[in-house]
Amino acid sequence: MSAPRPSGPFREGDRIQLTGPKGRMHTITLRADGELHTHHGVLRHRDLVGLPDGSVVENSSGHEYLALRPLLRDFVMSMPRGAAIVYPKDSAQIIAQADIFPGAVVVEAGVGSGALSLSLLRAIGPEGRLHSFERRDDFAEVATANVETFLGETPETWSVVVGDLVEALPNTLDAGSVDRVVLDMLAPWECIDAVADALTPGGVVLCYVATATQLSRTAEYIRATGLYTEPESSETMVRGWHVEGLAVRPDHRMVAHTGFLITARRLAPGAVPPDVKRRAAKKTSYGDEDVELWTPGAVGDREITDKNLRKRVREAQRAAQGARIAAEVRTAEPEAGASGGDDPSA
Ligand SMILES: C[S@@+](CC[C@H](N)C(=O)[O-])C[C@H]1O[C@@H](n2cnc3c(N)ncnc32)[C@H](O)[C@@H]1O
Repeated sequence: MSAPRPSGPFREGDRIQLTGPKGRMHTITLRADGELHTHHGVLRHRDLVGLPDGSVVENSSGHEYLALRPLLRDFVMSMPRGAAIVYPKDSAQIIAQADIFPGAVVVEAGVGSGALSLSLLRAIGPEGRLHSFERRDDFAEVATANVETFLGETPETWSVVVGDLVEALPNTLDAGSVDRVVLDMLAPWECIDAVADALTPGGVVLCYVATATQLSRTAEYIRATGLYTEPESSETMVRGWHVEGLAVRPDHRMVAHTGFLITARRLAPGAVPPDVKRRAAKKTSYGDEDVELWTPGAVGDREITDKNLRKRVREAQRAAQGARIAAEVRTAEPEAGASGGDDPSA
């Protein structure tokens, strides 16, 4: 069975987001006999069935409602939460940075509220496989319900295992059989060894953590195993813009911090990369390398060579000389109109 396409005319069973008077939003699931009662009147669900997505309908008092199927990002922001969710801006980056591809075998832990599971399921497509691990059965239930609500079913490509990843992973999947692993949990470093066993050589592990201390500990742990490539760390900031007439400016408010992403790739057994610079894990003072990070060259300004600099000096001097000559010519010329010579008005 495959989930219904989230497009086409509205059908019974569809979730619809209604935006009514004063921008007030309501989410309904279309039923033949369903009604939305508000103090503005009654909207019958059957008036929506068969209409194209994006239609405007009137309720019993003539108030208008814009009806749209929620996008995945709308759904995850409003769905019930057991644990904190991965926000859409981060899900998008996770899909890209972890290189989640159609047909991939992906492991995810923990499943929390299932927000990231929904993005992962989309990205792996009908040929992929998502194994989600969650140590709390109540959270696993919330996530399963959320996925079912959004997709209209529990997809065949998904399984949820209740248990701690470190114990459950080797009992569930063969060593070296997993393409990608995404960890969203408090202590991902505890799972890095188990993940190394499960990952295929070249496979990607991505950890999503909320604080700088988790980021540091995770990156150092990954580096210290010697089983992965050098970990790469980043965060994603998305700033909305207000665009209306001549008022075009960044929004005053934004979701500034959610989390950090750390990615690394599983090395082949016994492989030692030739150019990995392994830094000391407990570094407490600045070295030359840290200072170098802030030189103009390192931040993108190219250092100018002596030859180029001499060329620039000559260019500048030529320009200055030209300006001087122009000024002298202006001084020597009689002011326009001062001589009275050819001025017909004089
Ligand atoms: C922040 S939530 C995950 C949210 C989820 N990614 C989402 O987008 O909805 C973290 C979850 O990891 C689970 N967890 C923590 N450590 C775990 C482990 N070692 N194995 C399995 N689940 C774990 C927690 O119970 C919690 O539900």
